[in-house]
Amino acid sequence: MSNNHPIDSHNATSGGKMSEARYLDDHYEATKVDYEQMLRSVGIEKGWNVLDAGGGGGSYLRLLTELVGDSGTVMITDLASENVQHVAARIDRGEFRCRVETRTANVVELPFPDDAFDAVWCAAVTQYLSDDEVVTAFNEFKRVVRPGGLVAIKEGDITAWHFGPFPSAVIWRSFIEYMDRPERGFMRAPKFAAMFRAAGLENIVSRTTLIEKYQPLSPVERRFIREAFKYMSSLNLKLDLSDDDKEWWLALSNVDDPQHILNDEDFFYREPHNVTVGRVPTT
Ligand SMILES: C[S@@+](CC[C@H](N)C(=O)[O-])C[C@H]1O[C@@H](n2cnc3c(N)ncnc32)[C@H](O)[C@@H]1O
Repeated sequence: MSNNHPIDSHNATSGGKMSEARYLDDHYEATKVDYEQMLRSVGIEKGWNVLDAGGGGGSYLRLLTELVGDSGTVMITDLASENVQHVAARIDRGEFRCRVETRTANVVELPFPDDAFDAVWCAAVTQYLSDDEVVTAFNEFKRVVRPGGLVAIKEGDITAWHFGPFPSAVIWRSFIEYMDRPERGFMRAPKFAAMFRAAGLENIVSRTTLIEKYQPLSPVERRFIREAFKYMSSLNLKLDLSDDDKEWWLALSNVDDPQHILNDEDFFYREPHNVTVGRVPTT
């Protein structure tokens, strides 16, 4: 687990930025239609036993439990104990229609025997891992899924992240800076299919969905984008960028300014998400 991310906002104790349950709820609500379509596309079946690895506050639990049905089971794990407790409280309140269990666990060292699950779903977790840890996590996912079962990961792909009105080149120059930093974890999605193949998975399908938001933003969309801008600009203000570029990021961080681009009638926000699915070989 890479703990050297410079931003403290929304940190769960696992060190994952923007991973605290309340923020995750806003993010999920703002993007729910697209996110749920991504999970529905994976091919999870009724009666299956599914692992939601790094499940955070349990954003996907309702849909996962619907997909596996009354006879299925879901195990949700997370490295941050407060997220695990948040989910445990939801289970105690009887929110889910099938059996749901929770456990504190690291995706690079899963406390489950071989072939324990029919599928693994892992959303927005690999961005927090080093390159070597991602390889280990993919091998772990393949190990705990039975032959013929599915491994599915979802991750943001910042290489196509964009918003405006804002100078595109200022955004792209920040991406170049990320390439030698832990933030390159946001840029791995184009390599996932090859990484799944290297892990020995088959029938690999990798698709990217572009989530777009325009005016008028709903309150939850606005809250979520405000937080994303505060996070991205505080990160970028610490990079080795020109003073001119830093001026742009400073202005973006000032989300309460009436002149902020969030109040521009031509405002747009684009966030790409990749889902890669592979099958564990049967022989
Ligand atoms: C951005 S959140 C995503 C949560 C959830 N999957 C979702 O999409 O709403 C990232 C989650 O990964 C967890 N996490 C970070 N590193 C982890 C690791 N090595 N093993 C397990 N969970 C981890 C964090 O605690 C956090 O809950």
